Amino acid sequence: MVTETLKIAPSVYWVGVNDTVTRLFEGLWDVSEGVSYNSYLVVGSKNIALIDSVGSRFEEEHLAKIEQVIDPAEIEYLILNHMEQDHTEAVPKLLQKAPKAKVVLTPMAFSMLKAFYHLEPQTLIVRGDSTQIDLGGKSLRFVPTPFLHWPETMSTYLAEEKILFSCDLFGSFKRLPEKAILDADIQDVERYIQEASREYFAGVISRYREYVLKAVEKFKALGLEFEVLAPSHGPVYTAHREEVISLWSSWSRPDYARKVVIAVGSMYGTTFKLVEALVEGVEEAGGEAVVCNLVEDAPAKTLGALLDAPALIVGTPTYEHGLFPPVAHFLRLLESKKLTGRVAGAFGSFGWSRGGVKKLVERLNALGFRLVGNPLEVRGSPLSEDLEKARVMGRRVADIAFYEGGKHGFPKV
Ligand code: FEO
Repeated sequence: MVTETLKIAPSVYWVGVNDTVTRLFEGLWDVSEGVSYNSYLVVGSKNIALIDSVGSRFEEEHLAKIEQVIDPAEIEYLILNHMEQDHTEAVPKLLQKAPKAKVVLTPMAFSMLKAFYHLEPQTLIVRGDSTQIDLGGKSLRFVPTPFLHWPETMSTYLAEEKILFSCDLFGSFKRLPEKAILDADIQDVERYIQEASREYFAGVISRYREYVLKAVEKFKALGLEFEVLAPSHGPVYTAHREEVISLWSSWSRPDYARKVVIAVGSMYGTTFKLVEALVEGVEEAGGEAVVCNLVEDAPAKTLGALLDAPALIVGTPTYEHGLFPPVAHFLRLLESKKLTGRVAGAFGSFGWSRGGVKKLVERLNALGFRLVGNPLEVRGSPLSEDLEKARVMGRRVADIAFYEGGKHGFPKV
């Protein structure tokens, strides 16, 4: 058990945990590099508050860290910014150790607390944007920021230290390094920001991206000036906070790049043989082609690549007369995350029965993609004429996405 605590500001401690055992976060998202669950202890001269908690698997470690700083029985407030189980499963045990704690949460979070854990503790219910508590020299204000990424979510602001505890908003996959949580202390912090946070946004938050923009606007409108951004997963940002907010905002709008994502499922590599020609076509149009392997790459990586791409080309082999299952799963995720409505191309290969590309076209059309040109379906390995068709498809998809998109009401770059 790791018991180190980290100080992020005077009398503000990280008492969270690093998870290196879960393989799929939410049962969906690859976390082979781990993930942290951040929980913070704010110690005032009169009262102590704990902000968010952890999953049950880590409750002993969490408690041991809290005990390094204070006696849990002294906790006056337990603030639950979000009810998802990665932050709340330890709450029943925690409340046994902190019997006088009032749970601070939104009305919907309270109904979830009852449903999930059959608990009805003392509460302070957050209504509107002005609920505050005084800890003695430190005050916490609670601001509902709904649908980030559940309806009950809120953020907590510590005025004296200018810290925003934003829960999942601005979070990141990838466990924290040893003895570090502040961006200034993390050597590869750009990897967190550009890759792990992007994947987290794509996988967990992206369906509700309009609410990211609403939350950022709300913080401004309320005049919350924060110098420290402390989410519930990944690094705490100080110098990099504006960069993180700006990136999350751009993924939420989105701001498109001259980029085409080529997402391919392949059983034996035959469908992949068309990819090089597709890439060539995209590059001829002056774009960047990002190739994603729907079998080997983490799904959040592919979704993350698509955030700022106005076009998508999907490849599938035929599998038992229809779509290859990893491709079908990817299309379902696109629907769930609302990453649709882009210019698209479809291609694939088959051995003894057509069917995969036909189903792919049906699904892309149903999802609101604008298909360009004729779908390309090859029996066995592609011939030179097939490669030429693939090159033309790559070029046409990119051309239309980059230059004609605006005129047709599609994403303009
Ligand atoms: Fe980190 Fe939505 O829980």
